[in-house]
Amino acid sequence: MTSSHNLTIALSKGRIFDETLPLLAAAGITPAEDPEKSRKLIIDTNHPNIRLVIVRATDVPTYVQYGAADLGIAGRDVLTEYGGDGLYQPLDLRIAKCRMMVAVRKGFDYEAASRPGSRLKVATKYPDIAMEHFSNKGVHVDIIKLYGSMELAPLVGLSDAIVDLVSTGNTLKANNLEAVEHISDVSSRLVVNKAALKLKYEVIQPIIDAFRDARQEA
Ligand code: ADP
Ligand code: PRP
Ligand code: MG
Repeated sequence: MTSSHNLTIALSKGRIFDETLPLLAAAGITPAEDPEKSRKLIIDTNHPNIRLVIVRATDVPTYVQYGAADLGIAGRDVLTEYGGDGLYQPLDLRIAKCRMMVAVRKGFDYEAASRPGSRLKVATKYPDIAMEHFSNKGVHVDIIKLYGSMELAPLVGLSDAIVDLVSTGNTLKANNLEAVEHISDVSSRLVVNKAALKLKYEVIQPIIDAFRDARQEA
């Protein structure tokens, strides 16, 4: 094989890595190490020409866009917020499923606070998604950018509402919050560097096909 066959796949630790393992297995790819146990950021696989790189979930599109990784797996939340058109997204992998929601403290009169023309303080990791949602509703928002633990913001008066991911609802419940609006359904997608798809088509296309065949039914 020539060096152009070398393939780098960007993944984040945690749920994406865990839920991607069966898909990799279906494509005949087995990581040589567990990134939760190793401090290594480049993980070899059983294929001498395929390696994994472990990056933050929000950084996956960046690595793929610039071609530092040929493939990556990222949530629709991350991809929408990232924007850009350099990424080919051939496949919804149907993993890491959750919902993008607006939530407030229980008892907060969201209906009144979100009428067209009103002004709302919204804390979120997703400023563009939040801005787009509220501008479509005609609600003025002050966006407060956070990097995690959004659920805390309404409890300490940092914001009126949050825009965040909800899966079981346990985090909202534990913090006395309630979901008041559904923005979008979220799952993770395969992203491919457009130039790599052309140059390494013979290695990449079989992986896309194996992932498509192995993913859960819709
Ligand atoms: P981060 O450290 O950036 O929060 P995560 O591993 O928690 O990374 O999230 C990675 C992706 O998994 C998110 O971009 C989202 O698409 C999805 N996700 C996040 N939280 C949940 C959840 N509670 N249940 C299911 N999927 C989730
Ligand atoms: C995500 C998300 C919510 C929580 C929702 O956080 O930001 O806080 O999951 O899931 P639930 O509805 O099942 O409770 P995560 O567990 O990823 O924590 P972190 O991103 O702050 O590390
Ligand atoms: Mg998270």
